[in-house]
Amino acid sequence: MEQSKKIKIAIIGGGNVAYHLARVFTSNALKPDQILVRNKLLRESFEPFCNSVIHTLQQLNSCDILFLAVNDDAVSELSKQIKLKNTLIVHTSGSLNADAAASTDNSYGVFYPLQTFSKARFPDFNEIPVFIQAGDDNSLELLKLVAGKITKNVQLSDDHIRKSLHIAAVFVSNFSHALFALAEDFLKAETVSFAHLHPLIKETASKAVETDLYQSQTGPARRNDFRTIENHLKMLAQHPEKIEIYKILTSYIHHKYHPDKNE
Ligand SMILES: NC(=O)c1ccc[n+]([C@@H]2O[C@H](COP(=O)([O-])OP(=O)(O)OC[C@H]3O[C@@H](n4cnc5c(N)ncnc54)[C@H](OP(=O)(O)O)[C@@H]3O)[C@@H](O)[C@H]2O)c1
Repeated sequence: MEQSKKIKIAIIGGGNVAYHLARVFTSNALKPDQILVRNKLLRESFEPFCNSVIHTLQQLNSCDILFLAVNDDAVSELSKQIKLKNTLIVHTSGSLNADAAASTDNSYGVFYPLQTFSKARFPDFNEIPVFIQAGDDNSLELLKLVAGKITKNVQLSDDHIRKSLHIAAVFVSNFSHALFALAEDFLKAETVSFAHLHPLIKETASKAVETDLYQSQTGPARRNDFRTIENHLKMLAQHPEKIEIYKILTSYIHHKYHPDKNE
């Protein structure tokens, strides 16, 4: 597609990714034409970011790219219900096959922004890697063009790379987040403020991107401080779920740094 022609974009979804894509497209002169939002209560929040908010597939006009920013499990079924022709239909999932939205009348692709999105947070999109794939060269060129307008970090991907990154992202983001929430929960029960941990959380994240991960691991399991571990387990006695998680991670770290003591 020529750079001068306005690319017509539509989005299906009223969730986190739909919201952030709509927002960043709008602020980069790619305002979506339509966004399909099922939930009535959410439609107003999408109005600034498209020409019209719609709520049924029948209202969908022809467009160049249709983004399916919906639950992974909905992508395949939804793509079969779309009546458009000659449209590039892309999903935004890290874990689905690239051709999950493939159909006979349209081309397909993937547009996977590797970041954790919530509506209340506004990460700098220009820093976010967007992993793109497409079923044909023209579609890939179009995705390159669009991705290049919203981020300086466009990555050509394949299923293996994207799915591997998605698993890694679950570990570094979703699981870390769950551990932060677990810690907060524990401290609440002990009537101690979680805010005391904020500098530690920030330094841990900085260390993860700035230093060698193997070298910079700390803690009782790394040091082989078994008395400390025993004391922690005693203090966690009232929290059986937390004890399980503590034991699994302690054993993982201990095995890594003291393999000879795990035989
Ligand atoms: N959140 C992230 O950090 C992130 C990052 C990168 C990629 N992704 C991927 O992006 C996609 C969307 O994730 P999300 O976090 O935005 O999910 P989400 O916040 O849960 O939103 C999903 C949206 O899809 C809508 N939806 C589901 N089935 C639909 C259908 N058949 N027709 C129309 N709308 C439908 C839901 O509508 P209702 O509310 O009416 O059910 C909801 O608005 C997923 O593939 C996810 O893996 C997510």
